[in-house]
Amino acid sequence: MSFLTITGRRPLSGSLTVQGAKNSVLPILAACVLVPGECVLHNCPDLSDVRSTLAILQGLGCRVRREGSTVCVDASGVEYRAIPPERMRQMRSSFIFFGAILGRVGEAALGYPGGCELGPRPIDLHLEALRALGAQIWEENSVVFGRGGSCLRGAAVHLPFPSVGATENAMLVACACSGDTVITGAAQEPEIEDLQAFLNAAGAVVRGAGTDRIVICGARPLHGTQHRVMSDRIVAATCLAAVGAAGGQARLQGVSGRWITPVTAVLEQAGCCIEQKRDGLYIRASRPMGDGGFVRTAPYPGFPTDAQAVVMAALAAGAGESCFEETMFQSRYRHVPELGRMGADIRVDGRRALVRGRPLHAAQVESTDLRGGAALVVAALAAEGTSRVGALHHIDRGYECVEEMFARLGAQIRREDTQEEVTPCRRQEENEIVTAGAAASALSISCWP
Ligand code: EPZ
Repeated sequence: MSFLTITGRRPLSGSLTVQGAKNSVLPILAACVLVPGECVLHNCPDLSDVRSTLAILQGLGCRVRREGSTVCVDASGVEYRAIPPERMRQMRSSFIFFGAILGRVGEAALGYPGGCELGPRPIDLHLEALRALGAQIWEENSVVFGRGGSCLRGAAVHLPFPSVGATENAMLVACACSGDTVITGAAQEPEIEDLQAFLNAAGAVVRGAGTDRIVICGARPLHGTQHRVMSDRIVAATCLAAVGAAGGQARLQGVSGRWITPVTAVLEQAGCCIEQKRDGLYIRASRPMGDGGFVRTAPYPGFPTDAQAVVMAALAAGAGESCFEETMFQSRYRHVPELGRMGADIRVDGRRALVRGRPLHAAQVESTDLRGGAALVVAALAAEGTSRVGALHHIDRGYECVEEMFARLGAQIRREDTQEEVTPCRRQEENEIVTAGAAASALSISCWP
């Protein structure tokens, strides 16, 4: 078991290049299944979720190679249509493979996806969108079956809520449909634009990502391509929150402040100076931060739910008052009791959390989910004394060597193991250990009736 020891109350200072975006690379890796050729993806972060996704690709018959931060996926030989349930349960984004497999193979059979426990996370919008595109979909014994092939045809798809995953699944299936598809009510996140850029580079014709109306001209022949994954705006928000909490200054390269305007607005209101320059996003902060105001999470371009926990942790270590309203997920305050162990004064009432900033002290805490874990690191960087943050598997899903990232900003942070264990950085070399044969044999138990 690994844990982080963090000695806080030391101003951060330095410059770092923000890693590739988890929520961009995962759907793009799934989209590779549609392409009968080699796709070369640059700026792929080494995350446990990426490793799980590469194992799924290998299990489906893809050839997968990683060289540093470049991942090559050749899906020419894709033949399987099922993914072992235990792999499905590792991540929410595993369900994006449903659209990709349906589009490529014409049939799919997948269990329900897992991911962070944030409350109910249904897939009804995904399935309705795919039905609108002509797919036959049914569920049996916790397996979702889909049949597409010649039934798939471009259509008008309206999403009653701008679900990121449903938009991505619909985009992938629409690429395989005959005729044009218009998705209205689409999610507008920058990661959707990145998916569009990848698909277009591979020969698809997709327009409108970044708005709520996406048009896909279907059945274009796809081919191998290269793509550079965008930088991770939530990791950038985490670094900004950490500097706000601990004080200091930093330059973040590779990320645009435009992707996280609501986050920078809250931090600025609380007293941080943030400036976008040609060579990076700059922040300067002196402790303690003041009022953060009213922070309501919402789909893009609103305040990102994924940044709620880290910004809350920073404000809890400040000296002002702030009120959060979480509208996206039912259980996204699971980090609050852990922050309480560090002395944070946060009162949760339904969807709202009232934060009264005060000095935090070191404690032994456990990550509850990915962003909640990152929030504990932010709080520990601001707290007096040496904290210990456990359950790092949550953090490792989305942050590439989180300790190295903050150490680059001068933090006193160290990963320790209670027993002999490899670190996530060393685990990179183990990617290659997942052989196609081993994964494929797990898949030989067909889910088809
Ligand atoms: C993506 O999840 C992200 N994950 C999440 O990031 C992020 O929190 C979320 O979008 C919102 O921004 C990835 O991109 C891999 P949604 P996704 O479908 O696609 C409801 C992180 O920390 N809904 O936009 O699953 C759903 O329950 C993670 O990096 C339905 O009701 O999010 C939720 O309340 C966590 N039915 C809301 O919509 C559906 O069929 C938003 O979900 C689908 C969603």
